[in-house]
Amino acid sequence: MLLFLIFTLKGWNIVNIKHKYNTASLFSGAGGLDIGLSNAGLNIVWANDILPAAVENYRHNIGEIIQKDITTVEADEVPDAEIIVGGFPCQPFSNAGKRLGPEDDRGNLYLEIIRLVKEKNPKSVVFENVRGILSMKNKDGSLFIDTVIYLLSNAGYGYDVKYKLLKASDYKVPQNRYRVIIVAFRKDLNINYQFPDPITTTDDDLTLGSILNIPDNVPNKKDVWKLSPQSQELIQYIPEGGSWKNVPYEHLPDRLKRIRDDMKKYHSPNFYRRFGRNEIAGTITAAATPENSGILHPIENRRFSVREIARIQSFPDDYEFVGSISNMYKVIGNAVPPLLGEVIGKSIIDALEHAEK
Ligand SMILES: C[S@@+](CC[C@H](N)C(=O)[O-])C[C@H]1O[C@@H](n2cnc3c(N)ncnc32)[C@H](O)[C@@H]1O
Repeated sequence: MLLFLIFTLKGWNIVNIKHKYNTASLFSGAGGLDIGLSNAGLNIVWANDILPAAVENYRHNIGEIIQKDITTVEADEVPDAEIIVGGFPCQPFSNAGKRLGPEDDRGNLYLEIIRLVKEKNPKSVVFENVRGILSMKNKDGSLFIDTVIYLLSNAGYGYDVKYKLLKASDYKVPQNRYRVIIVAFRKDLNINYQFPDPITTTDDDLTLGSILNIPDNVPNKKDVWKLSPQSQELIQYIPEGGSWKNVPYEHLPDRLKRIRDDMKKYHSPNFYRRFGRNEIAGTITAAATPENSGILHPIENRRFSVREIARIQSFPDDYEFVGSISNMYKVIGNAVPPLLGEVIGKSIIDALEHAEK
């Protein structure tokens, strides 16, 4: 207790004294995952991303990050670390995207992580990706996820690999966001890893109504990306909890009229979903389009503000987003919710500590 007080009074970051395992972070983005891992007690010793907007936000809020294409990073540029983490680009696998998958160059970036794992032999490796990765097929019809697992299992000294689809709202994140987490431990450690059990209880209020009340001094509260004139017009007709289905036919643009005319053919899409204050928010995406994501404020005719989506993603209120407005939405939508990252980080620490006993 005395030690805690001394550190606190001197203004040092108390979190630093418990940091234990060194972690190299690839595809770090604005650092959503890294904040969570760091809060769990991991020590991020190296971070990398190619996108200037991600790097700018990471530096402004977290610390040093190397801006470079991962394909050009040599293994000796990455410091030794017990853990390597990487949420490789998910666009090719996203259900919302074109699903080009492994044939898309970006889909092969996971091979860069495998390359570094082979050279560095970390104790643990963590991948994060979208749900669509589970159904993605290789050219020969086999499952892409099986390829990832096979390559990781046989990388370097060999790994025991497990994966699971996790729902962020099970871990106190106020958002219905599903992500696949792949966790591997070096075979020689003999770790039987268990994914964290859900921690959300009935006492947790994760609804939009409980998180949209934001004090004036919180950064990015007033940063709102304007909607296109067409979207602005459409959403006037959408009540809280509604969607494009509430828009009278005559006010729909021709493209949406065609879909409305043959809903079965288009699998009854739920465009322009406007989640209500009594609901948990839908997935925040990098594109932040009102058509395909629940980005509309429940009762005001606008997109959520930057701070509102940051809260839905469980970013801390003192993370100040910088740069262009569309890029702020992009890096937030791309992030692993820090609270989810924290739970995963704790489970990795527990497993490694247990193996050391
Ligand atoms: C899904 S996001 C990762 C988000 C991050 N884990 C977080 O929690 O904030 C994927 C990231 O990969 C980066 N990326 C894409 N291609 C890359 C490349 N060739 N080299 C390095 N980073 C790349 C993107 O800029 C993007 O920030």
